[in-house]
Amino acid sequence: MEGVIDAVTRELLANRGGIDWAVTEFVRVVDTRLPPRVFHKHCPELLSPQVTTSNGIPVHLQLLGSDPRALAANARQALRLGATSIDLNFGCPAKTVNRHDGGASLLRDPARVQRAVEAVTHAVDGAIPVTAKLRLGYADYRLARACAQAAEAGGANHLVVHARTRNEGYRPPAHWEWIARIRHRVAIPVIANGDIWTLEDYWRARSLSGCTDVMLGRGALADPDLPARIRHWQRTGERLPETPWAVRGAILADYAALQRTTLPERVVVALLKQWLNHMRDRHEEARARFALLRRETGLDAFLRGLASVEGPAGSGRTASVHRSRDRTHTESPAP
Ligand SMILES: Cc1cc2nc3c(=O)[nH]c(=O)nc-3n(C[C@H](O)[C@H](O)[C@H](O)COP(=O)(O)O)c2cc1C
Repeated sequence: MEGVIDAVTRELLANRGGIDWAVTEFVRVVDTRLPPRVFHKHCPELLSPQVTTSNGIPVHLQLLGSDPRALAANARQALRLGATSIDLNFGCPAKTVNRHDGGASLLRDPARVQRAVEAVTHAVDGAIPVTAKLRLGYADYRLARACAQAAEAGGANHLVVHARTRNEGYRPPAHWEWIARIRHRVAIPVIANGDIWTLEDYWRARSLSGCTDVMLGRGALADPDLPARIRHWQRTGERLPETPWAVRGAILADYAALQRTTLPERVVVALLKQWLNHMRDRHEEARARFALLRRETGLDAFLRGLASVEGPAGSGRTASVHRSRDRTHTESPAP
């Protein structure tokens, strides 16, 4: 997720478990071949032997663009730099991106989706998989199936479908049932995405879409243990308990420490606020800490506020952080 899930975040989320692979923020392709530093900035994992997080979770490089020739040139560049999979973004709703004919704007014309995927598939010539991230359409759902079929015809190895149109932005609800309609029209795997915040959402998305696998965006930021929660439930039928604040606070503290190695303090504080903001709608304690810290600008004070034992109203004594996952308890299989 652009501006949100960078390599540090991928690393921390991958460490919590339950993730099969991660995708970079999009690399914006216009009409030139981008230099290696751009790829390394978006995907520092390219410098690791297998392009993975340190615990071995593969990281796929995402390109966003509309010009098949430029996409092909950058796919070749990515391949040369060691990319092990390329994902193409046909979902970005941002006005600036769409105005320049990128992201979801291509969903108005399935032939253009096909040409973009085809160009990249030919460029990498089977050396690595090419995948596509779609929405259900631009303004309506009429071309949802045609766009998915176009991506498949272009050579995509799998599709991730965010179950909303571009114009629906991020407004609930996600229309998971539409993913089932798409799934019936293509032979390649389809992965459901959009508004999966809890185990119950996973279950509903899975039931309505027919997809076993889901992609998590904001839900994994709101609850960094959601992927592990889903995986654990898939394997055992047991529910993991809610992740306590101390563990969430420790993840944020680790995040700050890692970001601080390369970024100025004020940027790290802004990033911490951003992540805490993603947590607050889904966690009482996160909401209270966000309210307390939203105007804080000093990193040390912010970290003290995250760790104080008494919580937001407390004196600022710091708790020891718990890094181990809580014990499991067993419940009925259906969440
Ligand atoms: C701030 C932000 C940045 C995003 N950046 C990307 C991106 O770079 N590439 C991408 O494929 N999707 C991006 N997305 C979309 C998410 O991947 C996902 O499809 C969407 O948020 C719905 O899933 P969720 O409800 O699990 O978040 C972004 C979403 C947000 C909110």
